Amino acid sequence: MPTVVFHQAGQTFTDVVKDNANLVVLAGIKQFPYPHLKYRCGMGKCAQCACRVLAGAENLPLPNWKEEKLLGERLEQGFRLACQLWLTHDIELTQDV
Ligand code: FES
Repeated sequence: MPTVVFHQAGQTFTDVVKDNANLVVLAGIKQFPYPHLKYRCGMGKCAQCACRVLAGAENLPLPNWKEEKLLGERLEQGFRLACQLWLTHDIELTQDV
């Protein structure tokens, strides 16, 4: 089960989530990282859930077309859309950008 370290507003939150967890889905049902994760649509349309991956990016799948469309050059800076990620490995993310 992946350990998720999440930085937001200068604070750090850590929890273990189930395999294949999606952080936006979890936040939607008021689980970690609720209420700290910023998101809106949950469908790869708004980019509100954009996070910069600080560690564990090598375990993520390649960005999908929604991430490519919404993040553009930010992909090269390590950004991903949390709503498009189903986590299977430890990861560290930030929305402090
Ligand atoms: S929540 Fe809208 S793109 Fe992820």
